[in-house]
Amino acid sequence: MGKNQNVYDDEIFFEGYKGIRAQENNYNKLQEQPAIKSLLPDLKGKRILDLGCGYGDSCSYFIEKGAQKVVGIDISKKMLEVARKENSHENIEYLEKSMDDIENLSGKFDLVYSSLALHYMEDFEKLLMDINNLMRKDGEFIYSQEHPLSTAHRKGLRWTRGEDGMGIHYNLANYMKSGKRETTWFIDGVIKYHRTFSEIINTVNECGFQIEKILEPLPSEEDIKLIPKMVQDFHKPNFLILKLGKK
Ligand SMILES: C[S@@+](CC[C@H](N)C(=O)[O-])C[C@H]1O[C@@H](n2cnc3c(N)ncnc32)[C@H](O)[C@@H]1O
Repeated sequence: MGKNQNVYDDEIFFEGYKGIRAQENNYNKLQEQPAIKSLLPDLKGKRILDLGCGYGDSCSYFIEKGAQKVVGIDISKKMLEVARKENSHENIEYLEKSMDDIENLSGKFDLVYSSLALHYMEDFEKLLMDINNLMRKDGEFIYSQEHPLSTAHRKGLRWTRGEDGMGIHYNLANYMKSGKRETTWFIDGVIKYHRTFSEIINTVNECGFQIEKILEPLPSEEDIKLIPKMVQDFHKPNFLILKLGKK
């Protein structure tokens, strides 16, 4: 598999992922989505690009909030099939495309948004340059990714657990070795890219962005009642979310 792995089109992976997303409560619904959505500006009349749009739920959300036009990009046929079925709208355009290949998109965007897709990208710098070029002068780029403390993982047990099975501390290793990671998530050989926190922040800065907000979401007491293992997130956050403006 090359650098643009299209793992969501693998049948077993796709079904496994679908199962997680269908759960009534999960990390997306309780933590990542409320946090990233809390950073959105007023969307009325805006042109929005959603990178790695998946099922297109956010594309529909943007239209509900008054966006004028949404372009959703995803490398996976299967994810886009769901998006076109469940989240179609005359002002949403879905494109089967890798994020590596966005430099020739037409028009400029007020908001570029990406939820949990950028850790699949090898060339972070090129992607950020392309995104910056696609943004209007006063545009914003808001994205979430797996937290660098998570993407660092290479092998072995992620957690040291107590007798109740709850993580008592996270077994961090290889954090300072950035680059490709081959992990098992539903199937073996899922490729992600680890970048240290300093690498992320310096690349963002060098590619013409200014940081407006950084979030590392935590569960509420209510969330922990619904998913007790979320208490582990007080040892290690799961998500990193950045809101960026153009310098
Ligand atoms: C965890 S899912 C998130 C989907 C959606 N953003 C959401 O929040 O529901 C990651 C998505 O990124 C897409 N993706 C992964 N690599 C990609 C690439 N190189 N170009 C475009 N999309 C990609 C996958 O196909 C998948 O739909």
